[in-house]
Amino acid sequence: MRFLIAGNWKMNGSRAMLAELDRIAEAAAAQTQVDVAIAPPFTLLADARPRAGQVWIGGQDCHQAAKGAHTGSISADMLIEMGARFVICGHSERRAEFGESDSLIQAKAQAAQTAGLTAIVCVGEDEPERDEGRAVMVVAGELDGSVPPASNARNLVISYEPAWAIGTGRTPTMAEICEMHAMIRAKLIQILGEEGTRVRILYGGSVNPGNAAQILACPDVNGALIGGASLTADTFVPIVRTASAVGANVSQ
Ligand code: PGA
Repeated sequence: MRFLIAGNWKMNGSRAMLAELDRIAEAAAAQTQVDVAIAPPFTLLADARPRAGQVWIGGQDCHQAAKGAHTGSISADMLIEMGARFVICGHSERRAEFGESDSLIQAKAQAAQTAGLTAIVCVGEDEPERDEGRAVMVVAGELDGSVPPASNARNLVISYEPAWAIGTGRTPTMAEICEMHAMIRAKLIQILGEEGTRVRILYGGSVNPGNAAQILACPDVNGALIGGASLTADTFVPIVRTASAVGANVSQ
């Protein structure tokens, strides 16, 4: 399966930071084996699109309604109009800071898909859930609650992101990542049937140029969602190149 390497700039970046996107776009054009994506803040989308080349541009959130009296929110159609191809739904920071529930995330992903976007639906346990041995159960429940049941491999990507690994420099063991991704694959097949075999499953949480090769070598890891290391081309581009090299090995 073709890797997707997606960067999430979160609430970082001004117009000046689009110089990083220029360099990422240049590198992505040379790596034809990998899909590359960047989610800048909403305010940079319009300026980002013409500079993105083959890099997919997307949003970090959208509202579940198509339009209306929802002060401060952005609809999926608005993202499309700015040239977005995808939107991140249910990132753990949205779940924790804004109390987003599985059913709300499912509604947002559904709205995104209806508008023509690919929804990157995030799932992942927090630290107490991992310590108590409940991580797999928690993630399975989140998938049941937040994956739109009519999704397909074109309009859905899953990202497994243990909350305790985000921005901390800590990652699960390879065995833990492989175990979780295998469970997610099985669950996607249960929910979506045959189509579930083709949905990409990303890993997110402290991915960097030093650990990307090992993580991407896990079966059923089909790419990465990257926060901190996506903020500069110096750290993001090596991960894109690694994915291209690992992808070439996998398909041999
Ligand atoms: P991080 O963030 O790479 O900074 O850990 C990952 C994410 O939140 O997607």
